[in-house]
Amino acid sequence: MDESNLEKLAELVKDFNGIDKTRNSLTYRPGTRLVRGYSGVEKETGAISAPIHMSVPYVHPSFDESTGFGYARYGSPTRLELENTIAMLEGGLKAWAFSSGMAAISALVKLFVPGDHIIVSDDLYGGTYRLFTTIYGKYGLEFSYVDTSSLEILTKALRPETKAVFIETPSNPMMHVTDIRAVAELCKSVNALTIVDNTLLSPYFQRPLDLGADIVVHSGTKYLGGHNDIMSGFIVIADKRFIEPFFTFTMSEGAVLSPFDSWLTLRSLKTLALRMEKQQENAAAIAAFLKPHRKIDRVFYIGDPDHPGYGISRRQTTGFGGMISFYLKDKDQVRPFINRLKLILFAESLGGTETLLTYPVLQTHGAIPEDLRNAVGVNEKLLRISAGVEDPADLLEDLDQALNF
Ligand SMILES: Cc1ncc(COP(=O)(O)O)c(C=O)c1O
Repeated sequence: MDESNLEKLAELVKDFNGIDKTRNSLTYRPGTRLVRGYSGVEKETGAISAPIHMSVPYVHPSFDESTGFGYARYGSPTRLELENTIAMLEGGLKAWAFSSGMAAISALVKLFVPGDHIIVSDDLYGGTYRLFTTIYGKYGLEFSYVDTSSLEILTKALRPETKAVFIETPSNPMMHVTDIRAVAELCKSVNALTIVDNTLLSPYFQRPLDLGADIVVHSGTKYLGGHNDIMSGFIVIADKRFIEPFFTFTMSEGAVLSPFDSWLTLRSLKTLALRMEKQQENAAAIAAFLKPHRKIDRVFYIGDPDHPGYGISRRQTTGFGGMISFYLKDKDQVRPFINRLKLILFAESLGGTETLLTYPVLQTHGAIPEDLRNAVGVNEKLLRISAGVEDPADLLEDLDQALNF
């Protein structure tokens, strides 16, 4: 984009104060907000389901007038309704919808310049590690991977050039819980940003911006989409100073969500509360079944009162989510166990209606070097389950028969 366009953009967003926080939709409780979205019923036609606007260019009524839309890479009505709904759900000022979680995280990194140092949770999605290290490491950014659930370790990792702390909480797959409020306070004291990947709990169970975080990022492919059929990603900001940079990144790079996938995500959000409650219920049943099982060494589930982060979770979330990781006693039992599963699907994702089992060392976390993986406990005995919405009795029966060898 040339200088004059940047100036125009800065002019355009200068007076943009984010979503209208006095809207009716914001007076409702979370479950209702999810069903009705930001705008609710469309005024012109009375459509209850948000219209899908497929147009790429938008006509300007006259030389001096605009509808607010010009070209779909910059913004389009269906995407905007989704973005406003996500901003509302996270308690943010503005959100942007991307074509994947990785596209959102990649846009986020562009806030930083060569020489900047970013502290990252050492237990995190392997693709995020790969993006930071392999791609952005080449552009002069430095990343340190530490256990952000320990404030002491985190404080020791700070440097004068630290510009942000990027946390996954609960972390994926070891389920470490980081105290978001404590990290945000620490970051504010050293002028660094707190960025939270909120994929695993969604805004239905956790709202990091309310706890002092500056930016929330999502793989919307997971719980927000929720049916294993849409890829999407989101950035949500708390503060006006990020409006201009993220408008510039999205309109310049164009890794934006299509109108159809925006609509499908809006449709999915209507059932987020139902899905998350059911997935949580199923996860709790699975964790309770696995914990005492003779073939299981350890279970990592944040809803377990024995989990070290249980107290923090009770304070900072309204639920424990649908993810469980566990060690089999013997790594040689991983293959027969997976091969014996009949209902639970051996596949690489999470957050959808179908219960999935993942083998992190081979799948989601294959990009992380072995020594770093082993140091955080992602080893050959570790398996991860994303609970779906099936009847829990069928899930337990399947686990029972698959472990019975
Ligand atoms: C916690 C977390 N963040 C980000 C991503 C990346 O999202 P996507 O696959 O939508 O690009 C994933 C993907 O598994 C994830 O689990």
